Amino acid sequence: MMKKYKRYLITAALPYANGPVHIGHLAGVYVPADIFVRYLRLKGEDVLFICGSDEHGVPITIKARQEKVSPQDIVDKYHNLIKESFREFGISFDIYSRTTSKIHYQTASDFFKTLYEKGEFIEKTTSQYFDEEVNQFLADRYIVGTCPHCGNDSAYGDQCEKCGTSLSATDLINPRSMLSGSKPVLKNTLHWFLPLDKHEKELRKWILEEHKNWKPNVYGQCKSWLDAGLQPRAVSRDLDWGIPVPLEGAKGKVLYVWFDAPIGYISATKEFTPEWEKYWKQNDTRLIHFIGKDNIVFHCIIFPVMLKTHGGYILPDNVPANEFLNLEGDKISTSRNWAVWLHEYLDDFKGKQDVLRYVLCATMPETKDNDFTWKDFQARNNNELVAILGNFVNRSLVLTHKYFNGKVPEIGNLNDFDNQTLNEIVNLKQNLEENLENFRFRDALKAGMDLARLGNKYLADTEPWKIIKTDPERVKTILHISLQITANLAIILEPFLPFTTTKLSEYLNLGKLKWRDAGNIQLLKPGAEIKEPGLLFEKIEDDVVEKQLQKLQSVKNIAVQNIQVKPQKNAISYDDFAKMDIRTGTILEASKVPKTDKLMQLKIKTGIDERTVVSGIAGYFKPEDLMGKQVCLLANLEPRVIKGIKSHGMILLAEDSDGRLVFVTPEQKVSDGSEVK
Ligand code: MF3
Ligand code: ZN
Repeated sequence: MMKKYKRYLITAALPYANGPVHIGHLAGVYVPADIFVRYLRLKGEDVLFICGSDEHGVPITIKARQEKVSPQDIVDKYHNLIKESFREFGISFDIYSRTTSKIHYQTASDFFKTLYEKGEFIEKTTSQYFDEEVNQFLADRYIVGTCPHCGNDSAYGDQCEKCGTSLSATDLINPRSMLSGSKPVLKNTLHWFLPLDKHEKELRKWILEEHKNWKPNVYGQCKSWLDAGLQPRAVSRDLDWGIPVPLEGAKGKVLYVWFDAPIGYISATKEFTPEWEKYWKQNDTRLIHFIGKDNIVFHCIIFPVMLKTHGGYILPDNVPANEFLNLEGDKISTSRNWAVWLHEYLDDFKGKQDVLRYVLCATMPETKDNDFTWKDFQARNNNELVAILGNFVNRSLVLTHKYFNGKVPEIGNLNDFDNQTLNEIVNLKQNLEENLENFRFRDALKAGMDLARLGNKYLADTEPWKIIKTDPERVKTILHISLQITANLAIILEPFLPFTTTKLSEYLNLGKLKWRDAGNIQLLKPGAEIKEPGLLFEKIEDDVVEKQLQKLQSVKNIAVQNIQVKPQKNAISYDDFAKMDIRTGTILEASKVPKTDKLMQLKIKTGIDERTVVSGIAGYFKPEDLMGKQVCLLANLEPRVIKGIKSHGMILLAEDSDGRLVFVTPEQKVSDGSEVK
């Protein structure tokens, strides 16, 4: 049964203020959220759209260290840049706040205190890595080391980005400090933990039973977290950047960024309106969090537990998370500068906000990762926005000026085709609505564009320019209908293309229309004045996208120049080297280890024996390509059990700074068991 809501509270993930916003953020979070909010506003709903900068956390302090400025300088710079570019791009937040604001410090501290006083935390002393050179505990990304699951030797203290496993710093093999490079020591420290395990049962019921309607990617991720069993999570850190833990004797400790940031939604609402409690505390509010897939656990599990244990707050009704957008076939990366940055787009493509909004909506990674390419951007602009929408609107308006002095002509007798066309307007509107309400933005946009297609087809089939001489009365009806379609377009495309529909409404002298006006075929009265139209879209030429591609190519070139060669390891003696028994061997069989992404089980003929080796190469090679390949193998490495398989030895591979793996193989075939020395 559908619950009836009186108001909407829509949040979009608070972007980290450690860099500008890029197309991946936009397609994943801000474009869908903005479309949804604009739709609700057009429907006359009571809606608040909340966002702001996430200004705490280790990545910000690392960036500050790199640029030799204070963390506050970093967040000031990026907060303003992000805020301004969102505004220019038409993301229509009611408020864009920030987590270094006073009101947020107060709100987050109070929130923590309430949970503390209710006894909702576990206080625990654990041993954590400490850098003795800089005299600091190493939280999260301050520590790197080798991932115990995939062997990636630059895994972070909280996560391995290569295999996606979430880690504890103490899981890392050979940990080193990001600050000094030194080997950290373990030292005891006191922290506060949220016992998620205590809430597991309730969460299972709330998500797995009561929210089966969540998107499959969201539901699935929640289910696998729940099935794996929840653990207590520390909500404090030893850091000097963040909101101080508001307790006696907690000097040097701050709230974990993922504890304070979601509370930022509440603080921002407080800052915006004295009526904030109505939005956060009344059951007839529908709370929806728009996020990217890497935020799912925080919004579906941790924040709801915080809200519930605090008491008095509503929980999200839905958390429509998107997958990731890639760029020209490669993962978008702030640190590698592999991105299309919003502020740069706005500079390079003045007045073309809607083109990017359109392309990002049409390629939104709703159910799986998707790819943005400049060629596709150009094609969608030229073949869809220009050739379909722009062309239809332009023909309707220009012909009205040419034949009827820019006045809406009278409608005459309707034939079947006219009626069919008019009926289709309502169908498309309903189709669009249903898709939007189920967070299917691509299909919703398609329904909107289908209305322009309908108009185009109507003009192409009725050919008013051919019959104007012989049957001007008929042309009146044709253009009347075409103009009603353009007026409908001005409404139903508003959530997607607000700049374009504003122009279109001006051309048509439409005034402020509501969603309920869509489907109406008398939006324009006969005799009403139409303005002389300008072009809604213009063709994007090859040289324009070429320039963007060159810009990306230069990022790649710089990356090649800056290849990070790892420093040489400490010297070893010849005896140390001689201890290693490296042999040639031939791969006889290869198969992926079930339930892992990276691991491959190999059977190798070593000349000495035939043995099993498990190697983290499944992401790079297919089993069928490995059969019969001669490789080099560290044969006397102590056997180890990996995923229940005894692995004896290690295959030698070379890895470049992009993480590409290639085999180290003998230059010519030699007999198996040959020594490599
Ligand atoms: N800054 C986080 C990110 O970019 C998102 C924070 S969302 C909030 O991944 F809920 F914590 F605010
Ligand atoms: Zn890993």
